[in-house]
Order: sequence, then C-alpha cells, then structure tokens
Amino acid sequence: MCGIVAVIGSREAAPLLLEGLRQLEYRGYDSAGLATVEATPAGPGQLTCLRAEGKLVNLQQRYEQYPAAGHCGIGHTRWATHGKPEERNAHPHLDGTGQLAVVQNGIIENHRSLREQLQASGVVFLSDTDTEVIPHLISQCLARLRSSGRAASGSLLLEAVQQVLPELHGAYALAVVWGETPGALVVARRQAPLLIGLGEGEFLCASDTPALAGFTRTILPMEDGEVALLTPLGIELHDALGNRVQRTPSLLTGTEHVADKRSFRHFMHKEIHEQPETAALWVARHLPPPSDAPGSPSLVALPLPAKVFEGVEQIQILACGTSRHASLVGAYLLEQLAGIPTSVFHASEFRYAPPPLAPHTLTIGVTQSGETADTLAALVMEEERRGLIADPAYAARLLGITNRAESSLGRLVPHLLDIGAGIEVGVAATKTFLGQLLTFYGLALAFAERRSSRSPAQLQDLVSGLRALPAQLKELVEEHDRRCAELAHLFADTQDVIFLGRGINYPIALEGALKLKEISYIHAEGYPAGEMKHGPIALLDSRVPVVSIAMPGRVFEKVLSNAQEAKARDAQLIGVAPEGPDTALFDVLLPVPAVDELLSPLLTVIPMQLLSYHIAAHRGLDVDQPRNLAKSVTVE
Ligand code: G6P
Repeated sequence: MCGIVAVIGSREAAPLLLEGLRQLEYRGYDSAGLATVEATPAGPGQLTCLRAEGKLVNLQQRYEQYPAAGHCGIGHTRWATHGKPEERNAHPHLDGTGQLAVVQNGIIENHRSLREQLQASGVVFLSDTDTEVIPHLISQCLARLRSSGRAASGSLLLEAVQQVLPELHGAYALAVVWGETPGALVVARRQAPLLIGLGEGEFLCASDTPALAGFTRTILPMEDGEVALLTPLGIELHDALGNRVQRTPSLLTGTEHVADKRSFRHFMHKEIHEQPETAALWVARHLPPPSDAPGSPSLVALPLPAKVFEGVEQIQILACGTSRHASLVGAYLLEQLAGIPTSVFHASEFRYAPPPLAPHTLTIGVTQSGETADTLAALVMEEERRGLIADPAYAARLLGITNRAESSLGRLVPHLLDIGAGIEVGVAATKTFLGQLLTFYGLALAFAERRSSRSPAQLQDLVSGLRALPAQLKELVEEHDRRCAELAHLFADTQDVIFLGRGINYPIALEGALKLKEISYIHAEGYPAGEMKHGPIALLDSRVPVVSIAMPGRVFEKVLSNAQEAKARDAQLIGVAPEGPDTALFDVLLPVPAVDELLSPLLTVIPMQLLSYHIAAHRGLDVDQPRNLAKSVTVE
C-alpha cells in the first residue's frame, strides 16, 4: 500500500522520482507527491514540495508547471488509509518550517496520541494523516540537537530519525529529506519493504524492484528495523540498535522486473495473454522430461528439501484475496490427491482466532507480492506461538509461495516456492493466480508421490495433463478473448452476477466473482452451486446472469441440475463447460475442453478472467488501476 521512492546523486532528482513512482503506481493512486532539495551556493539548500490528488499524471503536469530542482529527493504514490484522497493528505508531509519532508508507507498506529502531544506543544497539523506526526517529531528532535550547538549535517538528520523511530508504533517504510542538507537523505523500514539500488555515484531507494530495475541491477534490500543515511558518496546502514551494518548487495536477475505493456491496451489483458508462457515456463522448470530409466527422477522437481515433506500430518494455508482462492484449489488437491487434511484461512482472521495448535503441521503462506501485511503477520504469529512449546512435534514448519522471491516473505520463511510468473502490474491478479495453482499442483503431486496416495499411473496421467496445458491455454485464451469481447455489451446494465461452481471449481467461481467486482464494480457472488437453493436463489430473475462452471467429473450432473434451477427462475445462464448435448441448456457457452476434473481449474479460470476484463473495458473503466484497490496491501 503506497509506494515510496528516494534518490540522491549527480542527476536531477525529480525525473528519476517520477519514473520510479510510475513503476510503483500499482501500489496506490489516490494521490502522488515529491519533494526535492536543491543545493544553494551560500549555506543551506532549498526544499520544494509538489503534490497532486489522483493519479501520477496530475503530479507530472504540476511538475511541468513548477519544476522542482535538486539532486536529492523523495516521492510517494498513495493508497489512502488515514484521511481522504485529497491533496492536503498527499505525501510528502512537511514540518512547521516547511524545510523537512517525509514520505511513508505503512500505518503509525499511535499517531493519535503523538498528534495530541505535538499539538499540546503548539504544532499545527495540515492533514488528517498518521504520517504527518513524523516530520514534526523529527523537526523537534533536530531543534533539540541543534540547541546544543551542533551543525546541520546528514549525520545529525540520521541521529534525529534514529531517536524518533522508537516512538512510532506500527509498520512503516519512510524517507526523509531536509532543506539544510541537500547532500543527504535518510530512509528506514519496519515491517514494510524498502530496497536500496546502487548506481554510479547515485542511490535510489524504493518500495519495490520495478522502480529500481531501470536504474540499476545492484540492490541492497533493507532488513527489518534498519535505518540508512544516503549521500552521493555512499550508504551508511544501521540496525535497529544503532550498530553499523555491512552487507553485500545482490543482483536483480532477468528482465521480468521491468513492466512493459507491449501492444496491449491494459496490463491485465497482456498478463492474461502471458499465461500460456507462464505454464510453459513452469512445466520446463518443474516437470523433468519423461524417462523409463530405473531410478529416473521423481514426477515433479521442487526446490525443497525432503524434510519439508516428512511426517506432515496436516497443512494450514494462510492467504488473502486471489491468493486465498488459489489456496482453496490447493487444499482440494492436497486432501483429495495427497490425502493430507488441509485448512485454508483468511490471514486476517487467523491472526486473531487461530485454531488450537496441532502437531506435525506444515504452514504455508501464499502471497503473490510477498508483502501482504496480514499474511506476513499471521506467519510470524504462528512461528511465535509454536516457539513457546518445548515439544518438537509442534515446531513451526513454514513454507512460502510467492511471485517475488526477494520480498519480505522470502526473508521470513525458511522454504520458498517461487511461482516465477514475472512481474504482474494489473491490480487484478491473473497470471500469478495461474502460477499459484501450478505450484499447488506441483506440491500436491510431490506429496502424493511420496505417500503413494494415488497409483503411479494416475499421477503420471496428471503430469501428462500438465504438460499439455501450455498449448491448451494458448487456444483457450485466444478463443475466449474473442468470445468475451463479443459478449461484453450484454452486461452494459448488469448490476449483479452469480458465479456457481462445485468441488475443485468452487474456488474458481469465487475468483470469477472477485475479478468482476474488482475491475467492473458489478456486484458478484461466488457460490457453491448446491448451496444456491439455501438463500441466493431468491436473488434470481431475468436481470441476474448466472455463470455456471460445469466440468465433467464427480459433480457434473449436480452442477447441471443446479443450473436448471437457476434457468427455471429466468436467469440468463452462461456455461463454462465442454460443448455437447449435456451443456445445451446454457444460453451462452464459453467452451472449455473436457480434461481430468482435477486439472480443470487451470482452464476454467481463463473465461472468468476474460469475461471480467472485457466487461470492464467495455464500460470504459480503468482496468489496471480499479478504484479503492492496491496490488500490494502492506497495511493491516
Ligand atoms: C490485494 C489485491 C488482490 C490480492 C490480495 C492479496 O487485495 O488487490 O488482487 O489478491 O491483495 O495479495 P497477495 O500479494 O498477498 O497475493
């Protein structure tokens, strides 16, 4: 939530900040702002702050009218938490002198008491944000330090920030510039991401790698609690206790960190079209070539040590949003294929009402960004509560599934499965959902093989099915892109849509409804088809389309009967099902080939994504940046 960027070096800061913010806009777009410090020949520098409500383009326009000069600066793109999305609540926030500016990503939980304390000392607040307490606190601290005769310097600014940080409760990543020190800026993080990029004689610090990728490939991810002073000459890094820290930077690999729309109108559309490639890459990485040789490699190659699989008696999965829907498919596979009792929790619920501890439990955190605050906090809590028990059977066994191996999740858990889908910019997750599904197929197959819970031939059939997936996806994406574009106008005035599925396709119904809600603002509900008659059927009439996923398998006939029940109430029926006489009841068919039921979610999700995409695009909505949402939710 919110993206921050900071730069110092030999070039003009503002264009670099604006480019960095462009890459971070997926983190929020309620407002944007920047502050630069320009060195002046005599004495201190001059701070300029520009802010604009709404998308980054508004800030860009403001910058064209009022250029902000200087080689040092900070920037912010906001997803509103405290205070409406108005210009006065946009970051950077300034102190009373207007010469100290702060941008922040996170939530300062004790901001109210800090605000009262500051107001009592005469501070006047200009915004409703939690962040504004920070510049005032730092400013007061600087005044105290300077009253003992100390001169303004980067070290003094660092010291003031270090003194203020313990007063702040909550999670944050922040950057501070001061008009008095045009050659220094200070950054800090606690439970919110921040990475420093090392250029030649210049440093850029940002919430996420896409903002760094066009600038440098050499990065230094900051650890929790660290504070850094950046000058054109180098980085001075300190841990939470104030000790100097030396760490070797790492390299960003591949080009996947650079976000590019290619010829598509929207990132989401491009990312839907990238799914055959996502699947092909996954197959190439994880399914070893078939071999008849004795002792041939196992079915799936996962970068996990054997101990992750040994003695697991149950699995609990913690996730939010789309990642939770992928986890529900994962749980189905882990239970039905590998025979392991598995529960899926909303991470935000698990934090405050975890189930009683059970022994030999594998806990999986699933987050595409690797930064979702609730998921990370739920994992930390699980580790802590298990750490209190002496019996090793209860020890925490944590595994992460993410698209961002370099994220906070990557540093939190000992074992990680990188879904490797490449950077996803559209706020509505598509290719990363497919990547998460595939990762769960890999995991469930690996468990099933080790436990012999299915015959080798059955498992091999599933692997063959997965190998066929990239080609099937390619056809499906192209076909449904066309069909859904043609259908979109039918939904021009639709206000409610019901998505039905059963068994392994129930989570796909949930995901279909979520996609539609997220980007087209149409009310949608995903429901287990058999439950329809216990309430939601009352909503149906000719104005409420029903999208029903009916794939051959255990519940095929049941789903078709449930669809008939909806048809009898005049609902317009859209089927996601194979072509044939059984599925003739649908008013509109989005055909999907009849694959093994266990593999079907990998295909049925495609029409869900494309239907939502085309409905939203037809309505002229901002598909990639839907209102009120952000791709990475780093606040509770
Ligand atoms: C936000 C996004 C969703 C996403 C969810 C979880 O709400 O808008 O698209 O599914 O966060 O994100 P994660 O990065 O943990 O998968």
